[in-house]
Amino acid sequence: MSDKIKKKLKLKVSAISEGTVIDHIPSEVLFEVISILELDKTTNMITFGANLDSEKQGRKAIIKVSNQFFANDDINRIALIAPNAKLNIIRDYEVVEKKVVEVPDQVIGIVKCFNPKCITNNEEVLTSFKVVQKSPLALKCKYCEKITHEHQMVIK
Ligand code: CTP
Ligand code: ZN
Repeated sequence: MSDKIKKKLKLKVSAISEGTVIDHIPSEVLFEVISILELDKTTNMITFGANLDSEKQGRKAIIKVSNQFFANDDINRIALIAPNAKLNIIRDYEVVEKKVVEVPDQVIGIVKCFNPKCITNNEEVLTSFKVVQKSPLALKCKYCEKITHEHQMVIK
């Protein structure tokens, strides 16, 4: 098989000319990532693929957003659910920069507090946590001070 055909087979979602490619997202969290990055509200062109074969991870998802570049703080919000995601910054069809995501020190929104009595589960209050441990994740609620552990994490 020629190299050209191999490359075409590898490219499951069309290349973009300018923008951001978010690769190595676990397929099961694709739509949460779209929502956290507010891509459901953008007018930029988005293409994505899910359940693609990956060498590193069983099945992965990929999102390509044209003409949009993210601030590190925004991108790090997806680290909680897609810790191995890789960002590729594309300019004039070339990958000019690669970035990894990092778990932030503070998490606002996204995750529910594990404590059913917490104010954030009973009133219209946005959750807010201090990250007390990164791996496995442990989040301390600013309101009730209870710790939500990674295995208890529910996305809001
Ligand atoms: N990509 C794209 N449009 C471009 C250039 C690249 O959509 N104009 C995508 C590729 O399809 C790939 C990602 O950006 O999903 C990274 O590109 P590249 O670094 O060339 O691929 P790999 O070497 O496979 O990257 P890695 O091993 O770091 O995942
Ligand atoms: Zn709480």
